[in-house]
Amino acid sequence: MTASSQLVEPFDLVIFGGTGDLAVRKLLPALFHRFLDGQIPASSRIIGIAREALDDAGYRALLREALVSICDAAKLDVFLQQVFYRPLDARKDDGWDDFAGFIGAQPDHIRVFYLSTSPELFVDICARLGHYGLNQGKSRVVLEKPIGRDLDSANQINDAVGKVFSESQTFRIDHYLGKETVQNLLVLRFGNALFEPLWNAGHIDHVQITVGETLGVGHRGAYYDRAGALRDMVQNHMLQLLCMVAMEPPSSLAPDAVRDEKLKVLHSLKPIDDSNASQLTVRGQYRVGVAEGASVPGYPDELGNTKSNTETFVALKAEIANWRWAGVPFYLRTGKRLPSRVSEIVVTFKPVPHSIFHADAGTLKQNRLVLRLQPDEGVKLWLTIKHPGPGGLRLRHVPLDMSFAEAFGVQQPDAYERLLLDVVRGNPTLFMRRDEVEAAWRWAGPILAAWTAGGEAPRPYAAGSWGPSAAVALIERDGRTWNEDSE
Ligand code: BG6
Repeated sequence: MTASSQLVEPFDLVIFGGTGDLAVRKLLPALFHRFLDGQIPASSRIIGIAREALDDAGYRALLREALVSICDAAKLDVFLQQVFYRPLDARKDDGWDDFAGFIGAQPDHIRVFYLSTSPELFVDICARLGHYGLNQGKSRVVLEKPIGRDLDSANQINDAVGKVFSESQTFRIDHYLGKETVQNLLVLRFGNALFEPLWNAGHIDHVQITVGETLGVGHRGAYYDRAGALRDMVQNHMLQLLCMVAMEPPSSLAPDAVRDEKLKVLHSLKPIDDSNASQLTVRGQYRVGVAEGASVPGYPDELGNTKSNTETFVALKAEIANWRWAGVPFYLRTGKRLPSRVSEIVVTFKPVPHSIFHADAGTLKQNRLVLRLQPDEGVKLWLTIKHPGPGGLRLRHVPLDMSFAEAFGVQQPDAYERLLLDVVRGNPTLFMRRDEVEAAWRWAGPILAAWTAGGEAPRPYAAGSWGPSAAVALIERDGRTWNEDSE
């Protein structure tokens, strides 16, 4: 997982769902950036697969239109010469012989099959790849989240994929693990002597993890309405962030050393089920409001289904039942159409045990460590200092603020850039192992079941707000507030 701009081994990267949103908006731009940095060998091929009847030229034209705004067109055209397209249907035979021959023509290449499709198709695609022997040699499969809709469907998928690809060939991607700040969390925690002694229930009051988005569901409604925020964001991205904050120090960065520690955290999460879901969770759904200065429709209108019960917002209070974290709440909050696109982890330390300062000096505030994942990735440590100069002793709460872009003068690579090349290199450290996915579903499943059994509709919130007022009440009941980053 070290940053490097070295050429990787020649590879063929096949993207199932090659005309989809993720491929066009994220995967191809990520590959293009790695190409610009000189990491992609000239003999490597990127092959888009979808059902649309396109040819190489048609696919290149589609990508050119999507990517041209991010780069100079001449370089893009050179990159696109390494991009190909094959129309295939996972459930029909047509075209698979030709495709297998095309891939087989470069037997020494690393082969990456990236399944950026609905999880229902994973099984069919893998079965075909196995049938044509494409799982042999240096082959890897990448599974996009969510893997299944619940534990049973995840097991079915993992079993079926496991018949074709071994666990070491299987890369379950969670792109949050590729974000710069998430990896920096590992370095901050385990590369400094400062934090680890305080990183426990004795010194930490609580942790907040917020992933806010301003966008609505847009044209992803068909997928999103079957998923909802808990499956789309909490079961994977947010739990992975929680694990990175809460895990014990791994003995090394070896893939299984890190993943073993994350797994222990998932196993230690206190259950949320019928008995407590109504106190510990809040579901919301956005309604008409104002986002980024413009009036926007509510979720039901955007979706074209006024009866949808799908949540576009979740807030919840999780707890980890182990010695390090007993009694420390982890408040998680995520939603679409929130006021700003902000992802952050906020670790709030306990107050000092006794104040020696006069009331006139001002109030003492708790130290906070804020890890910003986006925008403007960086770290802020809020400290109390004396206001400089004469005028008596006045307390000020100020941040030690480091923006990575300002400090290092570099634009951070998109998470997919790192992760795609990690797959090519065969490094699974930042990918989820099967048992992690299962443990995450084991925790999330009872929450979904409790919501279904409770039968309550999600609480409406105006687009452009921070979710339903119940989400504020969830944390305020404990005498705490969501971080606003200004005090
Ligand atoms: C994806 C979800 O995994 O993550 C999307 O399916 C969400 O609904 C996206 O918008 C957020 O990713 P990022 O990197 O933009 O925060």
